[in-house]
Amino acid sequence: MSALTVIFALVFYAATALLAAGLVAKIRQYWRTPAPLKIPTTPAPVRGSGVAWRMAREVALFESLFKANKWIWVFAVLFHAALLLVLLRHLRYFTEPVWAPVALIQPFGIYAGFAMVGGLAGLWARRFLVDRIRYISTYSDHLMLALLVGVGLTGLGMKFVAHTDIVGVKAFILGLTYFDWKPLPADPLLMLHLLLVAMLMAVFPFSKLLHVPGVFFSPTRNQADDPREHRHIAPWAAQLEK
Ligand code: HEM
Repeated sequence: MSALTVIFALVFYAATALLAAGLVAKIRQYWRTPAPLKIPTTPAPVRGSGVAWRMAREVALFESLFKANKWIWVFAVLFHAALLLVLLRHLRYFTEPVWAPVALIQPFGIYAGFAMVGGLAGLWARRFLVDRIRYISTYSDHLMLALLVGVGLTGLGMKFVAHTDIVGVKAFILGLTYFDWKPLPADPLLMLHLLLVAMLMAVFPFSKLLHVPGVFFSPTRNQADDPREHRHIAPWAAQLEK
């Protein structure tokens, strides 16, 4: 077993542990944070079922972003939809045999790689070209975009420029999941791709990428507009009243 395989195996276990533990801790923190005020963005649904439907539209269609800014919406949807396809396409490295739906989407997944990088390019350009957005952009905003673009470009590089041994890649990944390590093909692009992916996994729970679970905890989206029917009272405030 080469030192390279051992290093990458350990890096991936560490990144997976950080991602899982970080997400659990963050979601617990969100779960326990009281929402002291009734602040749904109106007009808002008046019942729980309506809230669920509104949230589904928000997650699937980015509804509030659509209302706010059409350009950002186009690039955001392009990036996120393409990312979903790319990730689904990648499932073939994690299961044996490959699931039928995953096999079916393989051809579309390739184009999704370009769409993903195109969407990211649009979102990144906005951080330089729109004065107001440039002013509020932080290094971390740029870092997340750079990481995602880096993952996308190295992936496309393997697909179209310098092929890697994808049978070897699959054996390595399956080996990690079964704790039965197999050698990692020593291709520079693959190593860069995997290193950037591991970095993305490790920073995910400590970055703005937390908007993925965060959207479900946003009081302006997950509350029903029913303050006249039910008195809204946060748990800590209820204790004060006793
Ligand atoms: C452990 C996780 C991953 C492994 C083992 C992996 C491996 C690979 C390999 C071997 C390719 C080349 C495919 C080919 O030649 O047919 C590829 C392509 C690609 N990867 Fe990954 N990758 C991983 C995670 C990711 C993640 C998280 C993203 C996105 C954030 C990503 C984005 C891409 C893109 C855009 C392509 C090019 C389009 C495609 O072939 O689907 N990869 N990846």
